[in-house]
Amino acid sequence: MRFIRTNDYAAMSRKAANIIASQVILKPDSVLGLATGSTPIGTYDELVRMVNAGDLDLSGVHTANLDEYVGLTHDHDQSYHYFMNQHLFSRVGLDLSRTNVPDGVSADPAAECARYDKLIKDLGGVDLQLLGLGHNGHIGFNEPQDDFPKGTHLVDLTESTINANSRLFEKKEDVPRQALTMGIGTIMAARKILVVVNGAGKAAIVKEAFCGPVTPKVPASILQFHPDVTIVGDAEAFSQLPF
Ligand code: F6R
Repeated sequence: MRFIRTNDYAAMSRKAANIIASQVILKPDSVLGLATGSTPIGTYDELVRMVNAGDLDLSGVHTANLDEYVGLTHDHDQSYHYFMNQHLFSRVGLDLSRTNVPDGVSADPAAECARYDKLIKDLGGVDLQLLGLGHNGHIGFNEPQDDFPKGTHLVDLTESTINANSRLFEKKEDVPRQALTMGIGTIMAARKILVVVNGAGKAAIVKEAFCGPVTPKVPASILQFHPDVTIVGDAEAFSQLPF
């Protein structure tokens, strides 16, 4: 695992965007695995800046997002479809047919999960997967549990995730209780993984996930077994690392 320590959120975002940009410059038709949440917003802002400056062309990429809430329509302002359009896709004029987010309003979630796994496979697999890290160690919506889920699947969100995400909804009751998420197997199949973490609130889980035992109780810990992981964090998020 490669740890890249930056001074602050802005520097973390620039560094992560540069890593994504270098991937796309070297392979313009890359398949990018993307994440939502607060952490990557600055990374997307930087990518938009690079595209607008003429330094980056995203028109040849395909994207596959990690997850989506069940029950939120694509135009719901807390859906991950909406988030990605707002923070990246519409701002760089990305052809939406090249973008993929699990469909949380599918009438048949199991079929949707199978479709999503096949889609990623048909695209040739993910070249670079961007991840945030949940306070409980989740990646995507793979919550702490007894095993590592393999493919895209339906999950019941934990109380901790519902509480963490309730800040974005009017009231806690509005937070969806379920989501579709890539599995740990799907994530681990990506050729490269880029994790972004910032803030003191992530310091303990950064240490536990990346220096502690590999266990499905801390889903991100499995990344220790991936051959090409880069973790870009600010000084606060890295403050409990022993190096
Ligand atoms: C988002 C996702 C989640 C977040 C995680 C961290 O698509 O899958 O795993 O990456 O909850 O969220 P933030 O960045 O808001 O702390």
